[in-house]
Amino acid sequence: MALGNRAAQVIYMEEGDQARLGQQDIVLVDAFGRSVSRKRVDNDIDHEQTGKQNHSFYMHKEIHEQPDTVARTLVHSYHLKDQLELDFMEIDRLSIIACGTSYYAAMVAKYWFEQLAALPVDIDVASEFRYRSPLMSNSGLAVFISQSGETADTLAALKYARSNQQQTLAVVNVAASSIAREADMSVQTQAGPEIGVASTKAFTAQLSVLGSLAIQAAQQRRQFSAEMARAAFTTLAGVPQKLEQILSMESQLEAIGNSLTDARDAYFIGRGSSYPIAMEGALKLKEISYIHAEGFGAGELKHGPIALIESGVPVFVIAPNNDLLEKTLSNMQEVVARGGRCILLGDKHSIKACGDDQVECIEIPESDPFTSPLLYVAALQLIAYYAALAKGTDVDQPRNLAKSVTVE
Ligand code: G6P
Repeated sequence: MALGNRAAQVIYMEEGDQARLGQQDIVLVDAFGRSVSRKRVDNDIDHEQTGKQNHSFYMHKEIHEQPDTVARTLVHSYHLKDQLELDFMEIDRLSIIACGTSYYAAMVAKYWFEQLAALPVDIDVASEFRYRSPLMSNSGLAVFISQSGETADTLAALKYARSNQQQTLAVVNVAASSIAREADMSVQTQAGPEIGVASTKAFTAQLSVLGSLAIQAAQQRRQFSAEMARAAFTTLAGVPQKLEQILSMESQLEAIGNSLTDARDAYFIGRGSSYPIAMEGALKLKEISYIHAEGFGAGELKHGPIALIESGVPVFVIAPNNDLLEKTLSNMQEVVARGGRCILLGDKHSIKACGDDQVECIEIPESDPFTSPLLYVAALQLIAYYAALAKGTDVDQPRNLAKSVTVE
């Protein structure tokens, strides 16, 4: 992408390769000094896609692309198990490894694969996984999620898994990336180039791939009939339209974002698959607005974090209508009782069940619990965006952060 419209073709060098560029030719040698030839491939980055168009920041553009990028990725993922020749009956354990936002996609996927497909899942941040000598099952599948496909820790973790006889699957946004090339199989999320350092559309595209795969795993593992699988796909296919609805609530989300400018801290709570979304909401806010933000499993509040609640501290409560709603609302009440400013994200039913007019409510379209992570996160992305905008930070290139971390 960095070569942009300067190069029509690219040669991807392998680890240890060296190249000498002459006026007429290029001489390539491998790590042992042997002359090698490497394939030239077309650099097919679409330059339209890499512009900001009418948006002030790439992040804003990328948030708004999500109805399209999710729809494209879902189409691409519909027959994934056949394309990859994966048989989930033969797999007894999934290990999903990633960093940053991609790790929160792994966390959501753990709920999906365990609940829908009855497949045990371990998740790890790559920098921990690679050094803790994890014991891996002989019939395990190790999945590596990475937007860039170049994150050094994730790549090293992939090499570890391969040396432990795991089948490896990469879920990347850059098809020719190192992680995609190193893995046995790879799937490309169809998010298109993501330029803003804070990941948005890559995350929902990752969830689209993982959700589709979880349905296919559920069917192969006889947890889902063909009809149940079709119904689950239909639910997923409804996400882009609901995302449009959330994006049309921009002025309400902007007002909430603006109201955070004086906050020193902000907290995000959720249960089940809303717990990783709470973590991701906090990550977005801290990355670009520099407001101290943390996400917690709502049930853990009473084991420590509740000591942090003081008058007016914003607490975002991620509360889709599912069987954990009542418990989440009761955790929210513990915050209200201590003077916290609760902002509830829920659907009609959740808002009615909350019934507390001290609580500010953001109404998210009704959805099946399975797809709620894809929806709630979009609202949190916009809130973080507007908080950062109001604080005047460089939204696309926040201080001290890099889009892709290729060193340890
Ligand atoms: C960096 C970026 C994050 C990203 C993480 C993992 O920290 O700033 O936005 O989530 O790397 O990147 P990857 O490309 O592996 O998904």
